[in-house]
Amino acid sequence: MPTLYLATRNEHKAQEIQAILGSEWRVASSRELDPQLDWDENGTTFRANALIKAKALRTRTPSPVLADDSGLEVEVLEGAPGVFSARYAGPGSNDRDNLYKLLRVLQGVPEEQRRARFVCVLCYLDAEGIAHYFEGYCDGRIIDQPRGGEGFGYDPIFVPEGQDKTFAELNAAEKNSISHRNKAMVAFQEFLITRNQ
Ligand code: IMP
Repeated sequence: MPTLYLATRNEHKAQEIQAILGSEWRVASSRELDPQLDWDENGTTFRANALIKAKALRTRTPSPVLADDSGLEVEVLEGAPGVFSARYAGPGSNDRDNLYKLLRVLQGVPEEQRRARFVCVLCYLDAEGIAHYFEGYCDGRIIDQPRGGEGFGYDPIFVPEGQDKTFAELNAAEKNSISHRNKAMVAFQEFLITRNQ
């Protein structure tokens, strides 16, 4: 079974990508190649950050690598927290700090103005070092109280369009079938299939 190295420190992402890819691939997070591997996520776009991560991991292996950069864009906040989703409440902040900061910022904003979307940009650096990008989006809204214990990040306050439950109230398979990450992964898988034909 081939291994796909994923440039991430977020084990939740690695698990989601493994579940979406299925058993044909083994997804290994960058920790396996180098637990100390670090990068400076100073890009101003998801694409730029995905490339930074992929290039960092590529210094540790000659194999193709995949990187995921993702985040939440809130319409009334003109796209914030966006690329700052993982550190919205400041340096060293965790998922809980970020989620509660967003709830505070949105306090008093009525339901119809709480539209948001998750964005996922994947960067695949192939064996020749050429970058290929795949994007996925999931539209929804931000509620005013966290609900559910699954998932990670902003999942407890995000209700995807057409659902009553938050991402954190859906099980992994349900979330993975509609998520931004799934959509980007589907595009990536189609690329791999076409490439190998
Ligand atoms: P990254 O690791 O720099 O790409 O940061 C991604 C951040 O966006 C995470 O730390 C979460 O806060 C948020 N995020 C991205 N994808 C998801 C998701 O599927 N659910 C909840 N939060 C997410």
